Parts: sequence; C-alpha cells; structure tokens
Amino acid sequence: MSDLENIKLPVHVAIIMDGNGRWAQMRNLPRVEGHLVGMESVRDIVTTTRNLGIPYLTLYAFSKENWTRPKEEVNRLLEILGIYLEQELPLMMEKGIRFNIVGDLTDFPERIQKKVRDVMKKTGKNRELCLNIALSYSGRKEILHAVTGIAEDYKNGKIKKIDERVFSRYLWTKGIPDPDLLIRTSGELRVSNFLLWQIAYTEIYVTDMLWPDFRREAYLDALREYSRRDRRFGRVKEA
Ligand code: FPP
Repeated sequence: MSDLENIKLPVHVAIIMDGNGRWAQMRNLPRVEGHLVGMESVRDIVTTTRNLGIPYLTLYAFSKENWTRPKEEVNRLLEILGIYLEQELPLMMEKGIRFNIVGDLTDFPERIQKKVRDVMKKTGKNRELCLNIALSYSGRKEILHAVTGIAEDYKNGKIKKIDERVFSRYLWTKGIPDPDLLIRTSGELRVSNFLLWQIAYTEIYVTDMLWPDFRREAYLDALREYSRRDRRFGRVKEA
C-alpha cells in the first residue's frame, strides 16, 4: 500500500456491486454462488477501506427492485446477509467499524430486522469506518421520503426554509458526506437508482471486472485513478 501513502484518498466511497450472477453463470454455477463469493469481496473491500483510513463506505447490496427477483434468489440473499452479519460482527468490533443501513429496513422479515438492529446497536460507538449497506434502497423513494418529511415539518413550523443542507438532513444518508468516488463493477454504465441526490459531483469509476473478482488490488487501482482526477465542482480551473 506504500505508493498510496502520498495520494489524495476519498472520504466516502460508494460501490455498486454488480456481476455476481454473470460470474456464476460463466462457471455453470447457480447465481447464489456468485453472491457467496461476492460476500468475500465485501469482506476484502471493507477491510482494505478500514486499513487505508477512508472513513465512509457505502455498498449497494439490495435495491427495492431486487424484490422482483425469483423468490429462491431473494431468500438466499437474505440468508447471506444474515450470515454476513453474524460472521463479521467480531471483526467490526475489533476494527472499529460502525454498521449502518440506508434504505427501507421495514421491508425485511422481522428476524433480519432484528439482526441488523442488533449489529447497528453493538457497533454504534465504533469510529474508524462507517460502513453503510444499502438495503431495499431506491434513490427516488429516498427523495420522496425526504420531500414528505420536509412538507410535514414545513407545515408544522419545524423548518422555515428549504435549502440543500436542510434537504440532505431528511435523506436516509443524514450526517454522511456525499460520496467522492462511485465505483461500479461489471462494466454497466448506469447509476441504477443509487444515491441520486448524493452523487451530484461524485467521480465515477467503472470497471469490467465482476464483483466476485473485485478485490484489494483492483480497488487500489480505482483509488489511484481517483487521485489523478481533477475535481472542479462546476468551477473554472484556476490558472
Ligand atoms: C448484483 O449482481 C449483486 C446483488 C444484487 C447482490 C449483492 C450482494 C452481495 C455482494 C452479497 C453479500 C453482500 C453483503 C453486504 C453481505 P447481480 O446478481 O445483479 O449480477 P448480474 O448483473 O451478473 O446478474
């Protein structure tokens, strides 16, 4: 990691983890095998992020639209999430990782909600890395949820004006800085309803690599590429 010591690292990395199904199909394996190996990539990327000192990581694990997948696949994904939470809790505690959810947790079966809340509570005071997992997430739904909250609070006088800062406080990502870098695996050039408000000025990095193959070295390549980007936020470059 030595060549990364002097480069500009992002504060918040968001990742669209795509390509688990294709990874499995290419090996004549059931899709769920791709998700299981994808869980190993999650572990590797979380550990690398923590060790680099990047304070926020948001992973898109399950979209609102993913509920329409075959029941068997949805059930296995929920099972994998449960396994992940159980297996990773000791590491989260040891490494100071705070676990957080963005999305609509109430869509999930009670036993998963309980597990998620338990891990959020136990890791709540950890400060090294804030790991956000997007579950039953939809950027448009998040914006509508924010608008509804703002309309109510405006009506009852809790807020007097509506600006970008106020709006951000009503999002599921409240308190989390906007992502500096968005990584998408598997080569698709889409944002897929992910963090629509938050990625206004985010740098996008797309790799053809499928998520189960995306490990530390590939991640470091993305971070090196990010460090070379010239971020102007709409401003003119100074001479
Ligand atoms: C996209 O690949 C991936 C998902 C919908 C699920 C992501 C889940 C994991 C990486 C497993 C574990 C995660 C956690 C946080 C425990 P796809 O199935 O859409 O792939 P395809 O586009 O090739 O079909």
